[in-house]
Amino acid sequence: MADIQWFPGHMAKANREMSEAVKLVDIVIELRDARMPLASHNPNFDKLFNGKPRLIILNKADLADESQNKLWLNYFKEENTILVNSTHDDLKKIVVNKVQDILKEKIEKYKAKGIRKKVLKAIVVGIPNVGKSTFINNIVKKKVAKVENRPGVTKTLTWININEDLLLLDTPGVLWPKFENQNQAKTLALLGSINDDILDKQELTNYGLKLIKKNYPGLLNSRYDINEEDDDLLYSIGVAKNCLAKDNKIDYIKACEMVLNDIRSNKLGRVTYEKL
Ligand code: G4P
Repeated sequence: MADIQWFPGHMAKANREMSEAVKLVDIVIELRDARMPLASHNPNFDKLFNGKPRLIILNKADLADESQNKLWLNYFKEENTILVNSTHDDLKKIVVNKVQDILKEKIEKYKAKGIRKKVLKAIVVGIPNVGKSTFINNIVKKKVAKVENRPGVTKTLTWININEDLLLLDTPGVLWPKFENQNQAKTLALLGSINDDILDKQELTNYGLKLIKKNYPGLLNSRYDINEEDDDLLYSIGVAKNCLAKDNKIDYIKACEMVLNDIRSNKLGRVTYEKL
């Protein structure tokens, strides 16, 4: 597959605005996808948010393999990390408590100065499709209540009142200018964080099938009723699932769409694509 690169102009603009906006916040809340905890980390964030306290949210935990979730949480134990799914009823409580815990020294300092009610500000960042809108809507529990723009922040970024203690700065999903690691790019593409129009779907599907076969032997067999040792898994799936064109040949486009759709809508069950 030709190298995947995707960094549209609006992401470059958002990056510039985020580098200004971060000066205004107390903490960075970075959402990642629990099915790919490393691939879904934007390396640019390390530079952009250097020195700020950070809370890593491994989102979509309900879609990832439970035993892998535990291993990944342990992997990140030196950092402030929680596993959640964005539709969880107690999401707001979990996140607010964690933010207050991470910033407890700062809160104590404010109290010592006699400032009892200092509103904490957090910037919420993540790659596209990581679940940021779902996360924020659940925390807000209604259509987002926008407040006025603040200095240094233009319309791309939006302030949202959560409660009297916390203000969130919502940002668009952003990637970075160059994918040094093409496997990372392919994993991102597989789970829908990169615009499909620029991708070779057949090669992407083959990549996904290989990854699933390696991480979860037997899964493709039980889902598609194929022999996983076949050379051309996509062909075998096309035959087994009747993805045929008019001339009775395999319709690879149809087979790809079916498999990609199965992967993205989690028809294969709880799968972690980046396994520890
Ligand atoms: P974004 O703003 O970061 O781009 O992501 P968004 O919230 O739009 O979420 C992308 C997709 O992931 C949505 O599904 C959303 O429902 C789903 N999602 C987000 N968080 C979670 C989670 O924790 N668990 C599960 N199971 N799904 C989650 P969609 O099919 O694209 O849209 P929709 O049909 O839900 O509207």
